[in-house]
Amino acid sequence: MSEKKRVVVLLSGNGTNLQALLDQEHKYSYQVVGVISNIPDAYGLERARQHKVAALGLDHKAFSSRTAFDLRLIQEVNRFDPDLVVLAGYMRILSPEFVDRFAGKLINIHPSLLPDYKGLGTYKRVLADKKPLHGCTVHFVTPELDSGAHVIQASLEVKATDNEESLMQRVQTMEHQIYPLAAHLFTSGRLQLKEDKVLLDNHPINPLGYQLKENALELA
Ligand code: GAR
Repeated sequence: MSEKKRVVVLLSGNGTNLQALLDQEHKYSYQVVGVISNIPDAYGLERARQHKVAALGLDHKAFSSRTAFDLRLIQEVNRFDPDLVVLAGYMRILSPEFVDRFAGKLINIHPSLLPDYKGLGTYKRVLADKKPLHGCTVHFVTPELDSGAHVIQASLEVKATDNEESLMQRVQTMEHQIYPLAAHLFTSGRLQLKEDKVLLDNHPINPLGYQLKENALELA
């Protein structure tokens, strides 16, 4: 395989998506070269260290403003010279300065079928609304929260017996498959953002759609 592309991951918590990215990098065209967390004791940093990947805790509370923090974050991310910046449970709104700096090479995963259920507490709200379907979306990041162009969506049927925990577990199982795939499509040069449109192999696409069927993801 030609040289691997460089991925930097930003996170704030457990880091199961980081773990999935690390576990699958052997079969894909990217390598995670750095992990940064705004929460210094996030378990995701420990996962990075265990994998011998550079891990940096940068406490946003030590900065006077969002912009001041994000300007430093830009510097730290740039030190890794990334081809792609991946938000994996990064639970802090990014300033326009940061988003503009990495526009077109900044992706996020969100636990809903966007544009439905932007923001926090998606599982609770989906259950309260008795929705038949839930899922997750990989999208390019724009300054507006959870609003950039969609790359991949994966959906599942909500069961009558589901609670927040069971739903989250099944959605995260899908996240752990579609996020490494999205990183691979981007870093292998097949996926790009052009004039706010997602192109796959130079053709505009609707998001790639997957469905969870009997524990396996199938292209919808
Ligand atoms: C993921 O499920 C991701 O979809 C969500 O945070 C979780 C992080 O889990 N992200 C958001 O809600 C962003 N709006 P992880 O730390 O175990 O990867």
